[in-house]
Amino acid sequence: MTRSRRDKPKHHRLSFPAKFISFEGIDGCGKSTLMDQLANWLTTAGIPFLRTREPGGTNIGEKIRQILLDPACSEMSSRAEVLLYSASRAQLTDQVIVSAMKKGSWVLTDRFVDATFAYQGFGRGFDLDRLRIIQEWTTKDLWPDRTVLLDCDIDTAMSRLGARDGTDRDRIEQEDRIFHQKVRNGYLALAQNEPERFLVLDASKPLEEVIAEFYERFWLVEVAR
Ligand code: TMP
Repeated sequence: MTRSRRDKPKHHRLSFPAKFISFEGIDGCGKSTLMDQLANWLTTAGIPFLRTREPGGTNIGEKIRQILLDPACSEMSSRAEVLLYSASRAQLTDQVIVSAMKKGSWVLTDRFVDATFAYQGFGRGFDLDRLRIIQEWTTKDLWPDRTVLLDCDIDTAMSRLGARDGTDRDRIEQEDRIFHQKVRNGYLALAQNEPERFLVLDASKPLEEVIAEFYERFWLVEVAR
């Protein structure tokens, strides 16, 4: 049975206490810096965590990542793209995420299912209902407890990426401005549809301000209560 795009998905959360947090945003939004920050806070608080990324995070996933991001693979079809991202995610879920959480460890991931909705769904125009079915199968319906969306205007993100020469960019980063704008709008639409899961931060602001807001709206509310 397919759901309408506007319906909120039903989420089956795992019944153990560790939190599963994903970080999302367009390329150049500054996810890694915020993840570094959360990793520091968790270490200081003595909370065990595992940090991973998508595509990748396992031996198999890292090999899939090379194919996905290789600019020489420009002929990749959008269905093949969805399935490769999903293959990497299935491997990461089964091999790493579920077992870490069962041991009581937090999991911080640089991207998860929402990246497929934003990039392949909104960016490439792939049908969102179909994507949702594929994702539910891919992750056995595991969804992040919270998703931190670093929302950033395209100019700021591009100028952060622009520090690198254009030929240095991966296959997805080489997409044009319109594509990245669609991805940004897609992320915002996803966040609007699930405000209880998404925490949206304005990542165009100076880094110290983004970190301060993250501390107040996430750390103080969810952890240091
Ligand atoms: P990264 O550079 O943040 O590690 O992500 C790799 C690239 O892959 C980035 O441009 C976003 C893109 N991507 C998708 O298009 N779909 C996905 O499902 C994921 C996880 C990433």
